[in-house]
Amino acid sequence: MATSDYDSFARAYAAANESNLFNAYYARPEMLRLAGDVAGRRILDAGCGSGPLAAALRDRGAVVTAFDASAAMVELAREKLGPDADLCVADLGAPLSFPDDAFDDVVASLVLHYLEDWSGPLAELRRVLEPGGRLILSVIHPGIYPIVYPEADYFALTRYSEDYDFDGQSVVLTYWHRPLHAITDAFSAAGFRIATISEPPPAPDTPAELLPPGLPESGSFLCFLFFVLEAA
Ligand SMILES: C[S@@+](CC[C@H](N)C(=O)[O-])C[C@H]1O[C@@H](n2cnc3c(N)ncnc32)[C@H](O)[C@@H]1O
Repeated sequence: MATSDYDSFARAYAAANESNLFNAYYARPEMLRLAGDVAGRRILDAGCGSGPLAAALRDRGAVVTAFDASAAMVELAREKLGPDADLCVADLGAPLSFPDDAFDDVVASLVLHYLEDWSGPLAELRRVLEPGGRLILSVIHPGIYPIVYPEADYFALTRYSEDYDFDGQSVVLTYWHRPLHAITDAFSAAGFRIATISEPPPAPDTPAELLPPGLPESGSFLCFLFFVLEAA
């Protein structure tokens, strides 16, 4: 998929993202929890979408810069964050225009799984981070793939597509599955050290009607995998 495919369903995706289980009550609260106290920190939001995470980080006192490959998503982010927000259209699969050591943290929520090759993107995110800075990210949990596609090869880097309904609009999203060891190998190769791995339950304030039926006692389900990485 061309990364700008989000252009064709930007508003529908953004509306769903504001209130659905996966973004509003799972990915975003966990990204914010992992980020912790961000007051005064310079944070780059890579693949910012319509800017909900950037907005929440800014509300917590971070100085936020954000980019997305989709011009339509960046336009929505500008509506949300205002005309003075530091936003641009950029492709994480290409060299970034930001200088070396420009940020204390990078957040990359649910974007890396769109990319086949992680070596260039991770090297770029490492380059723009201060030494000791953090890359906080989420991806589709790689353990889901062999459950949904039991005939597939878990260990192979594989492109696959899935159908979604975003706010009434039917959409096909195309991802790259990679096994867990390939994920962590890519982090190490780019000069990151894993500080935290998280497989959280949904946020405590999730409305009961959004939760999947039959959750186990832990309240958790396989969904996204979160990492906090430190730039070595
Ligand atoms: C699932 S949305 C997540 C949006 C936001 N990070 C969030 O968590 O709410 C994925 C976003 O990644 C963007 N994206 C996909 N591939 C990209 C790339 N190569 N470079 C930059 N952004 C990309 C899409 O345009 C889309 O806005």
